[in-house]
Amino acid sequence: MSEKIEITASSVAAVVSDALKIIKSAQDLAALKSAKPATIGDGSPFAAMSAKLGKLPAADKATAGKLITEARATLNTAFSEREAHFYQLEQAAKLETERVDITAAPITQPIGARHPLSLLQEEIADVFVGMGWEIAEGPEVESEWFNFDSLNFDADHPARAMQDTFFVEPTEMHLVMRTHTSPVQVRSLLERDLPVYVLCPGRVFRTDELDATHTPVFHQVEGLAVDKGLTMADLKGTLEHFARIMFGPEAKIRLRPSFFPFTEPSAELDVWHPGAKGGARWVEWGGCGMVNPNVLRAAGVDPEIYTGFAFGMGIERTLMFRNDVKDMHDMVEADIRFSKQFGGVL
Ligand code: DAH
Repeated sequence: MSEKIEITASSVAAVVSDALKIIKSAQDLAALKSAKPATIGDGSPFAAMSAKLGKLPAADKATAGKLITEARATLNTAFSEREAHFYQLEQAAKLETERVDITAAPITQPIGARHPLSLLQEEIADVFVGMGWEIAEGPEVESEWFNFDSLNFDADHPARAMQDTFFVEPTEMHLVMRTHTSPVQVRSLLERDLPVYVLCPGRVFRTDELDATHTPVFHQVEGLAVDKGLTMADLKGTLEHFARIMFGPEAKIRLRPSFFPFTEPSAELDVWHPGAKGGARWVEWGGCGMVNPNVLRAAGVDPEIYTGFAFGMGIERTLMFRNDVKDMHDMVEADIRFSKQFGGVL
């Protein structure tokens, strides 16, 4: 460097004071860093001044050296203090943005609940799957033949009347919204090899108005067993086992003679419900019987070789008396508060 730089107390103080001004004027960490070459870095006036130290006459070296050393300490301290200051500000701002309010109430996502009818339907299916039965399904829009004819209904049976059954237009198609799950009996026999042990849960339709005990859309579960040598004793044993699992070990069943076109003999099934609200009592639960030979024939099964039993019951009705649900509206309105009472198992 050609220009002469004196190392005196005042010249050093002037360089230091200029550098300190620059350091102080930096408003953030980035500005401070970029001010390094102009203050204490290589190429700064202070660096140029200290480079002259070596060229001084020996007599001046000690004093000048001391001035430079002190000035370097002053500048380095000022620089690193300012740096620490900005670093602290940065950290504080960061902590502020990442602040967690540990007293805030948690935001919980409400979770849904399975509908009790679905749960009951699965519970029933489990009982029969546990005995080696299969689950069978059929269509909700069903042909009149499967819904009535194959099940031995007379042409003038009252259930075929327009006022009980939803007929699907055009009526020449002879389609109905199935009025029961019994058509799945014949479908299962046509589709499967014998012997057949099937449970058929599903939705059924009748032209009822929605009120406390009726709904136009409801659920049934149908059971069908066709094998060699089945008797009414097998029917009774099966239903008794089913009843005990549904209503507890003290449950029992009784059969009262009745009539259904698709069973002969036919019976109404009552269950002794030990846990009934207001005390143990008999409750009407469903229908059952030995499969009518005409139904077996309609499905191509020889009634001389095979016999069968069948039963069917409403799932809504079962839920009503098993869990003391008084109003059908609760079951169709899909209010989560209703479903949650049943455990909300997912
Ligand atoms: N399908 C009948 C109904 O909807 C219920 C029924 C009765 C089913 C007797 C059966 C049975 O399988 O054997 O009312």
